[in-house]
Amino acid sequence: MLYELGNFSSELNALNVFRYITFRAAGATATAMFFLFLFGPTLINLLRVRQGKGQPIRDDGPTTHHVKRGTPTLGGLVILLIPLLLSFDIVHIPWINKMDDTVVVGAQEGPRLAAPAKSVPVQGPVFIAGEPATAPLPATGVSLRRGQALFGTNCAMCHGMQGDKVGAEVGKYFPEVPQSLAARAAALSDQDLFRVIRLGKNRMPSLAENLNPGETWDIVNYVRSLGE
Ligand code: HEC
Repeated sequence: MLYELGNFSSELNALNVFRYITFRAAGATATAMFFLFLFGPTLINLLRVRQGKGQPIRDDGPTTHHVKRGTPTLGGLVILLIPLLLSFDIVHIPWINKMDDTVVVGAQEGPRLAAPAKSVPVQGPVFIAGEPATAPLPATGVSLRRGQALFGTNCAMCHGMQGDKVGAEVGKYFPEVPQSLAARAAALSDQDLFRVIRLGKNRMPSLAENLNPGETWDIVNYVRSLGE
């Protein structure tokens, strides 16, 4: 309302006063007063009709108090509420509602929110730049032991500890799990093995989330050792 006039102060110097908080406060008081005179009597009458008796007055008090008989209660509300309502824009109590400022994104609609920094896609076979450009690890005893332990955690439930599906509790529900992992792996290069583990293949899941590249090479070494 009047408050908005302050926005035009750049065009008309006289409107500058609307930018002073003191002037605004005074203005708010004046408008509040105006509205109080405008609606106050109606409201007081309304309250009087609804409340009937009005403010209770003790009979044993001074007789001068009796003139107040019939005055409705709650009139104070008017004094409180109207200025509050009208000066809201000026006082500007920050209403706590985060949903007001959040960007609303409907399903399948833009704007798409950017993925957090450093996040990596894990759904489906996606080539990640720079991978599997890592170099294979030498098949040392340490690497083989690490590979065996990791194979036991990540692969044995489908392939069996020896890659022969023996004891593969999950693998028995996957008829396509190769009967001999060693034989299948022999047909694959080291890089291919690495990629199958990282990206998965058909119903074999990607294990890139569970294994870092070094651990994956340890497993490749272990799988290679199965045939020997
Ligand atoms: C949830 C079960 C499951 C797990 C866990 C699993 N695999 Fe597999 N794996 C499969 C299935 C199913 C196939 C057959 C995929 C096809 O050829 O369709 C397969 C195939 C393979 C192949 C042959 C791929 C080819 O190109 O023929 C290799 C090698 C292999 N898995 C290694 C591993 C290794 C190493 C791990 C552990 C890091 C592992 N798998 C974990 C289910 C699994």
